[in-house]
Amino acid sequence: MRLGVNLDHVATVRQARRAAEPDPAAAAVLAELGGADGITVHLREDRRHIQDRDLRLLRDIVRGRLNLEMAATPEMIDIALNVKPDQATLVPERREEVTTEGGLDLAADQASIKRAVSALRHGGIFVALFIDPEPESVKSARKLEADAVEIHTGMYANARSETSISREGERVAHAARLAARLGLHVHAGHGLTYANVGAVAAIPEMEELNIGHAIVSRALFTGMARAVREMKERIASARSRPGA
Ligand code: PXP
Repeated sequence: MRLGVNLDHVATVRQARRAAEPDPAAAAVLAELGGADGITVHLREDRRHIQDRDLRLLRDIVRGRLNLEMAATPEMIDIALNVKPDQATLVPERREEVTTEGGLDLAADQASIKRAVSALRHGGIFVALFIDPEPESVKSARKLEADAVEIHTGMYANARSETSISREGERVAHAARLAARLGLHVHAGHGLTYANVGAVAAIPEMEELNIGHAIVSRALFTGMARAVREMKERIASARSRPGA
């Protein structure tokens, strides 16, 4: 199981002062030291956190897998084909949102997503589609010839009662099983924390988790390497003792 550490919030702190620190590149080095298998960043159209310069620098220094979250727009496709991240995860993007709010609408945005998947894959980039845990979305991702799906775990993370936690966890597990059966690689992310990661990490088909907010928040107090190491430990223990 790979852990991709999302460093957007490191850039958020820097942009709050339009300063030089903290630098996502420094955070990436420490995250990899702590055991991150990859680094994930979202270059948004409004450049509210990660900047073009961060992406270029990260391409040079990241040893593991560099995953670019991006909208399926011509501008972002050009950037991706230039910088060549190992992986691109296509996400919906709305200017007014605080963070990515839902999975892609694969039916409504079929043409632009298909164009993006094809251009990126031709450029040698592994492509994941960020989708809600819905069987129809998994099947559409397969039809659009993506390499992988990243299953949105936000609804699972926001669930409060035991019943809804287990219902939302089961939707994620079901989508993961279906995706693997259709030959797609399976990733998940959004809203995962040290407390709730276990059930998602224990899904046998799961290959990669992308986690940002929880790790960067803990890193403020413990340092980045330790925060990443502790998340890796949670994931490893959930996979060795499913259901625990
Ligand atoms: N995966 C995707 C597609 C995202 O958009 C985000 C947030 O940028 C994450 C994972 C990480 O979410 P969080 O910061 O809640 O861990």
